Amino acid sequence: MVNIREEIAKILVKHIDGMELADIVQLVEVPADTSHGDYAFPCFKLAKIMRKAPPMIAAELAEKISGEPLFEKVEQINAFLNMFISKEFFTKAVLEEVLGAGNGFGRSDEGAGKTVIVEFSSPNIAKPFHIGHIRTTVIGNSLYKLFDFLGYKVVRMNHLGDYGTQFGKIIAAYRRWGNREEVEANPISTLLAMYVRFHEEEKNDPALTEEAREAFAALERGEKAEKDLWQWIRDESLKEFRRVYDMMDIDFDDWSGESFYTDKMPAVIEELKAKGLLKESQGAQIVDLEPFGLTPAIITKSDGTSIYLTRDLASAIYRKNTYDFSKSIYVVASQQDLHFKQLFKVLELMGYEWAKDCVHVNFGMVSLPEGTLSTRKGRVVFLEDVLKTAVSKTRDIVTEKGVNADLIDETSKTVGIGAVMFNELSSGRIKDYVFDWNEILNFDGETGPYVQYTHARCASVLRNAAAKYGAAAMDAAAVEKADLSAVQSPAAYELTKLIYAFPAAVKDAADKYEPSVVTRHTIKVAQAFNKFYHDEHILVDDPAERSAKLMLTAAAMQTIKNGLGLLGIKAPERM
Ligand code: ARG
Repeated sequence: MVNIREEIAKILVKHIDGMELADIVQLVEVPADTSHGDYAFPCFKLAKIMRKAPPMIAAELAEKISGEPLFEKVEQINAFLNMFISKEFFTKAVLEEVLGAGNGFGRSDEGAGKTVIVEFSSPNIAKPFHIGHIRTTVIGNSLYKLFDFLGYKVVRMNHLGDYGTQFGKIIAAYRRWGNREEVEANPISTLLAMYVRFHEEEKNDPALTEEAREAFAALERGEKAEKDLWQWIRDESLKEFRRVYDMMDIDFDDWSGESFYTDKMPAVIEELKAKGLLKESQGAQIVDLEPFGLTPAIITKSDGTSIYLTRDLASAIYRKNTYDFSKSIYVVASQQDLHFKQLFKVLELMGYEWAKDCVHVNFGMVSLPEGTLSTRKGRVVFLEDVLKTAVSKTRDIVTEKGVNADLIDETSKTVGIGAVMFNELSSGRIKDYVFDWNEILNFDGETGPYVQYTHARCASVLRNAAAKYGAAAMDAAAVEKADLSAVQSPAAYELTKLIYAFPAAVKDAADKYEPSVVTRHTIKVAQAFNKFYHDEHILVDDPAERSAKLMLTAAAMQTIKNGLGLLGIKAPERM
């Protein structure tokens, strides 16, 4: 995409001695007040070089550059050069770019040759995949899409919670009360029920505690019976998780999980020891982080068992050695802020300079109107049920709206699941929020359905045009022939400006690890298109005028599609 600030600087540099192009680019600004132009250039810094008063310099520059086709008008006001970009030039550049790039509009190659790891979702085996997991899953998936779009090689990791003393309990419980068929028919809820029962009965039956301890010890020693059981529980849980991922069209490149790192931990513990970082504290091995204002990092517990943090250390080192990442991203709730501060600090103390490339992308909590979530009390809302509810509620809405019968199935899925995902990505990730069906499924709000509907509306305008006037070419050569003065009204121009700003929004979202930047921008494009659509008549008789309007429609549609794509959401052509 033509970079307007750079184009301006290229013109200015010809008339300014003693200042580099890059410095001029830095100085070009966008005035808050649009009556001062689309761009402005302050001349204060030139006073010294040119030995003249800034207003005089601005006046001279205004005169020298005003004939350039890039500008509609150039004015001097005090020390400022105020530039109004030629709408013709701008509109042409934007339409040519978007129609030329298509699905690649907004893409870049800034990440070429670099690898980014995005670890996300990471639910715990044998535990419910619940509504609390939705944010990491959807935000992580979007970050994967964003970095991929920017040319990085991205490795999607699901760091499954598939290890820990709780597996001793699950195995013990299963041996007492479980049976294969029941688990296979309904893995998670059966295993969960057994786990809950274990906790209840353990209080009065110390033998259970002992059985669990023994089972876990056997698992750690790698005994076949326990390993097989564990593997089976893992496989059954994964089947259930995959079903949910499939509903959202989400996949991973690496499913290793915590268990994968158990045999890599002794080396880490040795290394910590060798580097003089380990200290004994009440039988446990710790790294003292007090000088950094953090509580101690516990590396091994007093009973010798390793813990979560140690597995994360092993995993971080493994990731670096295996993928040589330029960034390793962990999409995990803010509840674990301390854990990641400890993890990154210990890596730094171990002398790994790449610790600075590890990023904890945290986020706030989801709660339900009926109260916060609690696995212990059995108040679990399964993510799968939420997605199914979304589909069925959407079905009711679209049926009432009179959607074509043969589109109802498809639309309810695309829109229902898209709505839930979009909602997760609409506000800054750090904010806590309350899950509210009315908001999520509001077709007129700033929602997934609204944006998808706008996309389908663009598609329908283009279909109608093709039916009435025949298929029209949508490429740079056609832009040349169209009457672009027809798309310079305030509504059209606003839309064009938002389309132009899309690639920058994509980059900003990745820089901040904040997909909501793309979400917000995509909503704005959809709103601007709808304003254009309502204000103006698109299918006019004049071919050159109609063609320009259809191209703007196609460009808006492409931008919305690419935006939704980066959020992991489908863009339906019909609804
Ligand atoms: N399984 C953990 C949980 O559900 C999340 C894992 C986060 N990732 C990590 N590398 N520690 O809380």
